[in-house]
Amino acid sequence: MKPIDKARVLVTGGSKGIGQAIAEVFAEHGHDLVLVARSEDRLEDTARRIRERTGVDVLTIPMDLTGDGSAEKLFAHVEQAGLHIDILVNNAGVGMTGAFAQGDQQRMTQMLRLNMLVLSELTRRFLPPMLARGKGRILNVGSVVAYFSGAPNWSAYVASKHYVLAFTRGLSRELRNTGVAATVVSPGTTATDFVETADAASMRAYQASGGVSVEAVARTAYRACQKGRTAVVPGLFNKVLAFLGELPPRAIAFEVFAFLSQKTDTH
Ligand SMILES: NC(=O)c1ccc[n+]([C@@H]2O[C@H](COP(=O)([O-])OP(=O)(O)OC[C@H]3O[C@@H](n4cnc5c(N)ncnc54)[C@H](OP(=O)(O)O)[C@@H]3O)[C@@H](O)[C@H]2O)c1
Repeated sequence: MKPIDKARVLVTGGSKGIGQAIAEVFAEHGHDLVLVARSEDRLEDTARRIRERTGVDVLTIPMDLTGDGSAEKLFAHVEQAGLHIDILVNNAGVGMTGAFAQGDQQRMTQMLRLNMLVLSELTRRFLPPMLARGKGRILNVGSVVAYFSGAPNWSAYVASKHYVLAFTRGLSRELRNTGVAATVVSPGTTATDFVETADAASMRAYQASGGVSVEAVARTAYRACQKGRTAVVPGLFNKVLAFLGELPPRAIAFEVFAFLSQKTDTH
């Protein structure tokens, strides 16, 4: 597809990590931004740096996306600001590792809400105006773990990323010939605060691979999104993992990922 010029791009979780890197790549290409995250200070710092470096317009909206009616509130906020969104980047997501039965129940609910429900509600809200204009992109941030049929130690997180992959694949086909496209980028281990908040540092998967830099993930995501590709996996190691994960018999791939999902400090 033809890349969209001078788009207004909304990035959830745009204050740091992969979301910030994606926002920076869009800004380098001259696109204006709306950044959403909870921490107002960090959001403003990121916005200031991007404005100074690239000169693009950046609106910040501090918001907890797991709050009631967040998608509706965010859409209304953007409308009130007189803006329309050409590219929605559903990046905000959290992880959780460890034995499922002992995991914090509230954290689990918030994770599933953010990773699946909020992503879907935001897409439902921002997609129809894109279709009406015949132009737009939805860029969802999934994970390479979605290509495996499941994984112990982060079973709910992995399943939430299955949702992102399957949802985007289906939506992408629905959107054919509309001028709007949906893309899922599926990073592997990437050095961000996610590793700490998800308590994933001692997992073999995080120790085994050097990971792909956030900048490389962001550039891959940008290109795939602009081209309207359905799915992209950044980095050769992750591409191999994703390929293996979909090969039959999937039971073998399951065992590979079960090994990678072990924590070296508890096993
Ligand atoms: N890092 C990895 O190894 C890796 C691998 C595969 C996939 N991913 C995916 O990549 C995405 C981004 O993760 P990351 O690695 O960049 O993590 P990160 O550095 O922790 O960034 C997460 C971003 O989401 C925001 N956020 C978190 N909870 C939120 C909420 N309730 N409401 C609004 N914003 C919220 C954070 O800001 P506040 O905390 O200020 O709200 C931050 O901007 C996630 O979907 C994750 O699943 C990460």
